[in-house]
This record gives sequence, C-alpha cells and structure tokens, in this order.
Amino acid sequence: MKVAILGYGTVGSGVFDVIRENQEIISKKVGAPVEVKYVLDLREFPGDPVASVLTHDFADILNDPEVRIIVEVMGGLHPAYEFSKQALESGRSVCTSNKELVAKYGAELIRIAQEKKCNYLFEASVGGGIPVIRQLIRSITADEVEKVSGILNGTTNYMMTKMREEGVAFDVILKRAQEKGYAERNPAADIEGHDACRKIAILTSLAYGKQVDYEDIYTEGITGISDVDVAYANELGMGIKLLGESYRKDGVVYAMVAPKMLCSDNPLYPVNGVFNAILIRGNKLDDVMCYGRGAGKYPTASAVVSDVIDAAKHPNVNIPILWSEEKLVLGAKEDMVNRFFVRVPVSEKEEAKALLPVAKAVALAAYPEEIAFLTEPMSEGEFEKKTENLTVFNRIRVEVK
Ligand code: HSE
Repeated sequence: MKVAILGYGTVGSGVFDVIRENQEIISKKVGAPVEVKYVLDLREFPGDPVASVLTHDFADILNDPEVRIIVEVMGGLHPAYEFSKQALESGRSVCTSNKELVAKYGAELIRIAQEKKCNYLFEASVGGGIPVIRQLIRSITADEVEKVSGILNGTTNYMMTKMREEGVAFDVILKRAQEKGYAERNPAADIEGHDACRKIAILTSLAYGKQVDYEDIYTEGITGISDVDVAYANELGMGIKLLGESYRKDGVVYAMVAPKMLCSDNPLYPVNGVFNAILIRGNKLDDVMCYGRGAGKYPTASAVVSDVIDAAKHPNVNIPILWSEEKLVLGAKEDMVNRFFVRVPVSEKEEAKALLPVAKAVALAAYPEEIAFLTEPMSEGEFEKKTENLTVFNRIRVEVK
C-alpha cells in the first residue's frame, strides 16, 4: 500500500516517522506493507531520509497508479483543497489534519469520496491525537447527540491553567506560551477562539449530519479574561475554560465558542495544561468523554496514520460519514440560556440585584470597589437587556449542567 504525503512540516514529518518507525505493527494491522512512496514539498531536505522520496510536483503522485492513499498535511485552503479533490476524483483516499479545509469543504469532499468509493478521513482535524471523530462516526451511532462540549485548543487551556495556578496576568502568560512554542507569534487563531470555532463546527456537522458554517458560530476568545476574573473563579471553586459547545434543544441546534466557568463536578474541570477533552452526551448513552493531547507532532501524526490504516483496510470501499452539504441553520445566540458571572461597581450593587435573577453574590477583599454575582439561568438576550444600563466590568458564562 503506497502512500504520498503532501507537506513535510511538523505533522508531515511526524507522519513520515510514524509510518517508518511503526512499519511492522502498521503493516500487520493492514495485512500488507504500508510505505511512503512520495513526499511533496517545495523545499529541499538534504541529508534527511525524506530526500529519497521527495518530489516538488503533485503530478508525480497523481500519475502513479501505485499510490492509493494521500496524506494532506499542508494546511491552509489552497492548494490543499484542489489537491484533495483531484486525489478523491481519481479514486484515492485522502487523510488529513487540516481543520480549516475540513470545516470549509468537508461535506463536498466526503460526497466525492462516496461517489468514487474511496475515503476522506480527518481524525486529526479535531483534538489532535484524540480519537473523537471516529467515536462520533462509528461508535455513538445509536444515539441522538444532545450536546457536544469541548476544550478544543491546547494553547488557551495552557494559558487558563497557568493563570489559575499562578494568579498572573493574561499578557505575562501569553508571552510565556509563545516562548515555550505553544502559542504562535501571531496567536489570534488560538486566543480569539477561531481555531476552537472550526473544530466545534466540524464536530457539530458530524453530530447533526449537516453543514455547519463556522462563520455562523458566535465566537469569543479568552482575551477578555483577567487575573481578577480568575481570582473570583478560584474563590467560587470554579475553573475558567475556553469551550466549544453545541447542543440541540426543541429541535434547534445552537453553537458557541466562549470562555466558561465550570464547577468542579464537571468532567472538563480537571482538564489542564495543553490537554484537550471532548464531552459528548447521547440521548441513550448519556456522557462520554475523550481526553488527550490536542496538538503536537506525534499525537497528531498518530491520528493521521490511524486514518491511513483505516483507508488501507478499506480499498474501494467507502466508510459512510453522515455530513451532507445541506446547511444547518443554527438557533439565535440571543435564545441560548446560561448562568452568568457578572462584576459591577459596588455602587451599583442594589440596582444589579433588582435587575438580575441573582443566585449568589461574591465580594473579594482585594477588590473592594466591586461586587460580583452569579445569576440564575437566563437567555443571552435577557442578560444583555437587563445589564445594558449597568457598568459591567466583565461577564463570563457559567456552565449549566
Ligand atoms: N494551536 C492549536 C492548539 C493546535 O493550541 O490546540 C492544534 O490545532
């Protein structure tokens, strides 16, 4: 079984290493030798073992009938989309970690794979090495999915964990995350929630079988979370996590990416550092959680290679994936219900209490000028209306069980 890898970056070189180093076990599982015949990259890698299989021309791969599986780990939309489409149209399976491409063109590429009796597989596109896609497609099949909620971004989870443990400011932790190589020099995709947004769009499309456009998902990152918020969360025995969430209520699907306060009995609460976790609730199954490394060269490469093995075990057979091109219209953000944590000046304490359905008040000696409240569950629209004349220092949603 000959494989071609498009892109020799972090994940691509990881896939190359995993196939070489675990050759024996992989070939045993497939029932035939699995080998990398080409790696496509514009660069040269003198002295690297990849040099002997390197090509700069996609046509070399497309014109070689021995190649049956193509690993697309180039990243970005173009030319990854064109290459993936051509590969599938030629009847070859494509395995990818490219969440941007899967979120945008996944439904179309899945349809082409179905027509051509091959496979478009994307386990590594959400949760890195965590086998969550396979779980949604092949394991949680007897249930209606009621809810998906996940810590889908390792960089921001690392930052929130460190802010909690050390009580330091956002900017200090961001700088450290960049120094450690967790956050990009331009960290917007992580800290503004765009990366988590694409991932929850993919999970929601799979959970409900229709195309969820990530542009439709209300997305808030962690840039508004301060050390003061974290001090309150600690006082309340809660943790703040960036969550990607979607759920179905009364036949309508809602989705959002935002930081949320979690109680200690929430299974996502103890998920710390760069780890990711995804909690899925089925209407018969109840809760299932998958946990692991959501990023990194080898965890991500391992997930890609698990797809290569799946594709190799299913030559000329399409593994059905229910994700149609029909657009899923999401429910309005204003109708989503949450509890809220809200900080106001102490001078507006009575006004806030009169306006909001307050469940609990919290005051911290370190911040005598302000007071915080936890509200009862209320809709986003109602919360916005009731707080429009208050001076809100910050507000954070609180997970309702
Ligand atoms: N920047 C992403 C993260 C990488 O921190 O989780 C994996 O998509």
